Amino acid sequence: MSEGSNTPGFRLVHRPRRNRRTAAIRALVQETRVTADDLIMPLFAIDGDGAPEPIASMPGQQRWPIRQLVRECLQLAQLGVRGVAIFPKIDPSLKDPTGENALDRDTLVLRAVRAIKQAVPELCVITDVALDPYTTHGHDGVLTADGRDVDNDLTLERLAKMAVLQAEAGVDFVAPSDMMDGRVAVIREALDEAGFSGVGIMAYSAKFNSAYYGPFRDAVGSAQAAGTTLLGKHTYQLDPGNAREAALEVELDVMEGADAVMVKPAGAYLDIIRQTRENTDLPVAAYQVSGEYSQIMAAAKLGWLDLKRTRDESLLAIKRAGADMILTYFARDVAHALKHGERTVEPFFEHQAGI
Ligand code: PBG
Repeated sequence: MSEGSNTPGFRLVHRPRRNRRTAAIRALVQETRVTADDLIMPLFAIDGDGAPEPIASMPGQQRWPIRQLVRECLQLAQLGVRGVAIFPKIDPSLKDPTGENALDRDTLVLRAVRAIKQAVPELCVITDVALDPYTTHGHDGVLTADGRDVDNDLTLERLAKMAVLQAEAGVDFVAPSDMMDGRVAVIREALDEAGFSGVGIMAYSAKFNSAYYGPFRDAVGSAQAAGTTLLGKHTYQLDPGNAREAALEVELDVMEGADAVMVKPAGAYLDIIRQTRENTDLPVAAYQVSGEYSQIMAAAKLGWLDLKRTRDESLLAIKRAGADMILTYFARDVAHALKHGERTVEPFFEHQAGI
């Protein structure tokens, strides 16, 4: 019996399986593909000249001293990754309640950006605008006088200054992740006034108050600073149940001048990615956050999930939902796999594998 034939049976008009019959047909009808061009690698920076520090809750990820961070960026660029998002883990002795170190011209992240831009100018460099790596309490802004909330407008002033410093250091996009009201407008104005009309704003527009940020707070030390991984950011980050409110946040950021809008986390918020895609013509970024990465790594380590297939499927779903670019801790590995033609599917029907 030749391939594609079947025992005589029902006279069905519709046999969708015809389009899945061979590897060639499957490739031709494939609707969504993830390429290295879609990927942004988040990287953690630390001071000093020692070895990279592994991050226990994010197997495979490290905190990089600047020299090695630059080497990592060079390799990422060679693999075809287009962007990196740099997060500093500053020494606890530099933290205070108002996050002064964020406004120091020589703070870690600015030194890191300058070094990366000098060595790999073609790589798109993105930095977070938020105070959490710098504050003793781990919140994204300055607290109100009674210490019970983050003060919106006092925080805005600092964020604007932070964004200008990052622009001076050479970033392509500043990425406000703080969720203060009005930050995109205030940052846009500050950047333009300082002569940085070419520096873009990638706004963390629909950022949810998520448990999936746990490992990240380990990585940058904001959890240790606050003494808990369960920092309550519910007065500024979105309630995970609220899709309409997410649409409002996106709309405001677009009106205030964002160049790209972000949904975060990604995997548990595919409906929000789709909604955002439908509501704006701006590029949509999605952040597959630390907890999404760690849960796949953990299950793979236990032998419960196939790492590569789960990884690739998780990213494909985010792209299919409507993301133009994906921030993911898997960026390096996926770019490597794509470049080296690694096949992640082991077909049971070998003759149809297309190899
Ligand atoms: C801080 C910030 C967070 C992440 C990116 N920027 C955590 C938070 O809001 O507490 C999370 C990224 C991740 O979990 O991978 N403004």
